[in-house]
Amino acid sequence: MVQTLEKPEVPGKTASTWTGSAREQAVQRMFTAIARFYDLNNSLLSFGLHHSWKRKAVSYIPAQLGTRALDLGAGTCDLAILLDEHLNRSGQIFAADLNEAMLRVGQKKVRGHHSANRISCLQMNAEHVTFPDRSFDTVTAGFCVRNVGNLTKALGEICRVLKPGGRFVCLEFSRPVSPVFRKFYDWYSFRLLPWIGTVVARDGTGVYEYLPASIRNFPHQQRLCELLTEAGFQSVEYHNLTGGIVAIHVAVK
Ligand SMILES: C[S@@+](CC[C@H](N)C(=O)[O-])C[C@H]1O[C@@H](n2cnc3c(N)ncnc32)[C@H](O)[C@@H]1O
Repeated sequence: MVQTLEKPEVPGKTASTWTGSAREQAVQRMFTAIARFYDLNNSLLSFGLHHSWKRKAVSYIPAQLGTRALDLGAGTCDLAILLDEHLNRSGQIFAADLNEAMLRVGQKKVRGHHSANRISCLQMNAEHVTFPDRSFDTVTAGFCVRNVGNLTKALGEICRVLKPGGRFVCLEFSRPVSPVFRKFYDWYSFRLLPWIGTVVARDGTGVYEYLPASIRNFPHQQRLCELLTEAGFQSVEYHNLTGGIVAIHVAVK
């Protein structure tokens, strides 16, 4: 039973492994600044939809007793907690994130759900997963991989730590399918959202500009399938949610 935040020591890896590139540092500063308001912001900006997106993502994981799972970019631990419920509180779940402030909020929620003896919070970089090969039955990542510095490296690590036949479920923003809806969504993301950030929320973190830009720059549905295949996954499929605003990729090793 691990109830404290852990930052595992990795032989041969220096502190720079944890801090990473300038972009990664900027992203991490932003998550540190918004950690306390992250859940509220998430609910407001997604009109509450993120709860059903996360429930749907978890439904792609076989509910087998004793499942060992890793949730990468766990943040405030919503997915890890849903996964614990989905596994009938029989699994062993590691909720890993680079950001200590986000994890601290998450750890409080884990305790509130009486899940602390099954969910361990770890500070860890998705690009350097500190578990041996073939450690997990399943890996999940909710709105995480878009933020990592080196996506190829992170996907390689995810594939490496999965057991053969293990499943990676990736919930991430993607590309709306309908061109008309895409236009409206672009207006919301690139015009309304930054305006809300500046005028209403008086945001100083840049999150309202970062969010749409990071979504625009992230590989869309089909390209992510290709990257997952290149990372070593045998079968990959995806499911669009809310018209493709979000997609769930399910990749089997
Ligand atoms: C948008 S939040 C998502 C949090 C949570 N999974 C959810 O669905 O609400 C993205 C999280 O990914 C984490 N993250 C970004 N880059 C990371 C990396 N290289 N390794 C681990 N976590 C990372 C951030 O610190 C942040 O907590």
